[in-house]
Amino acid sequence: MNKRVAVIGAGPSGLAQLRAFQSAAAKGAEIPEVVCFEKQGNWGGLWNYTWRTGLDQYGEQVHCSMYRYLWSNGPKEGLEFADYSFDEHFGRPIASYPPRAVLFDYIEGRVKKAGVRDWIRFNTAVRQVTFDAESAQFTVTVHDLVNDRTYSELFDYVVVASGHFSTPNVPSFAGFEGFNGRVLHAHDFRDAREFAGKDVLLIGTSYSAEDIGSQCWKYGARSITISHRTKPMGFNWPDNWSEVPLLERVDGHTALFRDGSSKHIDAIILCTGYVHHFPFLGDDLRLKTSNRLWPLGLYNGVVWEKNPQLFYVGMQDQWYTFNMFDAQAWYARDVMLGRLPLPDLATMQAESADWRKREEALADDYAAIRYQSEYTAGLAALTDYPPLNIEGMNEAFFQWKKHKKEDIMGFRNNSYRSAITGTISPPHHTPWKDALDDSLESYLGKP
Ligand SMILES: Cc1cc2nc3c(=O)[nH]c(=O)nc-3n(C[C@H](O)[C@H](O)[C@H](O)COP(=O)(O)OP(=O)(O)OC[C@H]3O[C@@H](n4cnc5c(N)ncnc54)[C@H](O)[C@@H]3O)c2cc1C
Ligand SMILES: NC(=O)c1ccc[n+]([C@@H]2O[C@H](COP(=O)([O-])OP(=O)(O)OC[C@H]3O[C@@H](n4cnc5c(N)ncnc54)[C@H](OP(=O)(O)O)[C@@H]3O)[C@@H](O)[C@H]2O)c1
Repeated sequence: MNKRVAVIGAGPSGLAQLRAFQSAAAKGAEIPEVVCFEKQGNWGGLWNYTWRTGLDQYGEQVHCSMYRYLWSNGPKEGLEFADYSFDEHFGRPIASYPPRAVLFDYIEGRVKKAGVRDWIRFNTAVRQVTFDAESAQFTVTVHDLVNDRTYSELFDYVVVASGHFSTPNVPSFAGFEGFNGRVLHAHDFRDAREFAGKDVLLIGTSYSAEDIGSQCWKYGARSITISHRTKPMGFNWPDNWSEVPLLERVDGHTALFRDGSSKHIDAIILCTGYVHHFPFLGDDLRLKTSNRLWPLGLYNGVVWEKNPQLFYVGMQDQWYTFNMFDAQAWYARDVMLGRLPLPDLATMQAESADWRKREEALADDYAAIRYQSEYTAGLAALTDYPPLNIEGMNEAFFQWKKHKKEDIMGFRNNSYRSAITGTISPPHHTPWKDALDDSLESYLGKP
């Protein structure tokens, strides 16, 4: 009987897996039957925006952590698909930091062209995955949310591509119960206009804090205060920004910090990151990790070492995204097709331990970018994925970091060279801080 593969999630990682199999089939390979289960009504993962927060109409946790007016936080030249360039999709060069809707359109363009939508069962949440050693098969139990029907099917391989920036990490601070404003996690942030004229406190110093703070500033917040646990971000913030030590407690509308300082606050946004959460997997199959470049237990960052019929795509902390997911998906495909034999468990674990050791010794962000690009390019090179010009992509990231240091509210006005086509992006028609409409039409059109 033909083998069967279950892919969990139709975000960029799951879609990479579908495209990898479709590309092999297009070249004449015999491929297994691939079934993708997606709990949302459409593909795109986090890029599929919804106004909803909390639970959806079926009582499922809302997956989306994105918000209105979100623009790419890194240059698009760092995430370009090697088999489907921006120039090919848009028919002309576009600027370097597209808003969400434009990137959604790009993600969708490739899979529409590949014709894999029929492989996906939408509105279908995976509830449980178990493995039977005797038959060497997985039982995947899913919930068809529209028809409220639960059923199970057998699969030979499972690919977990359910993302890891959706279940919020939510610490609590003294006095939250009595705070007279709104407390929310970044996962539930949707529209910066809600905070116009307000004094906003953000906790955390990573991309969510930087970007949500910037959104609130752009759309008229009165002041932005960023509270750090480890160290401040240290960018050249606008005048109504301040960086303060960790929040100690809240008293009414007053926030008190560890250095004894205090500030009037109207709203608190916890930009405290996310946790890897796989409620459908038992202990024997479940990846348990923090957000890092080398989670342990995954050979080549993909194969579940203790059961190589199980794969995880996109579980690393991410400098590289779409093209790294592609490299992983092409690699997982070739393992499943029997093109790439795996070593024994001890060898896999030793190689993983070596990558982890190297991760722990990384000196700075530049070294981390090089590390992840070396990993991505090395994996892609084992397959027929088009070769990645990693030097070119790293260069876009290095320039991006420099531009952020120079002007945190203006870095998105810069242009970079595509490592796939060599095209240099045109500047966007409007500086980021003045571009209030994030629609595809506005971005691609004239001001
Ligand atoms: C706020 C925010 C902004 C970001 N901005 C950028 C950016 O500018 N550039 C960039 O490159 N990256 C960005 N990222 C990183 C982002 O992680 C990747 O771009 C990408 O979306 C990851 O793809 P994924 O498929 O691994 O996961 P996701 O996009 O999270 O997709 C996972 C999919 O799995 C589905 N799913 C989950 N559980 C189940 C289940 N039990 N059953 C069925 N389906 C399930 C979900 O519904 C979802 O569709 C951002 C992340 C966040 C949180
Ligand atoms: N526009 C965009 O494209 C955009 C916007 C937002 C997010 N993103 C993406 O979303 C992903 C997640 O980013 P993220 O910023 O949400 O998460 P993250 O990178 O994991 O950072 C989590 C932050 O929370 C802090 N933190 C965690 N627990 C804390 C606690 N108990 N008290 C105080 N601080 C605490 C951490 O501080 P320490 O440093 O002290 O550990 C860290 O600063 C990234 O891939 C990012 O690129 C993209």
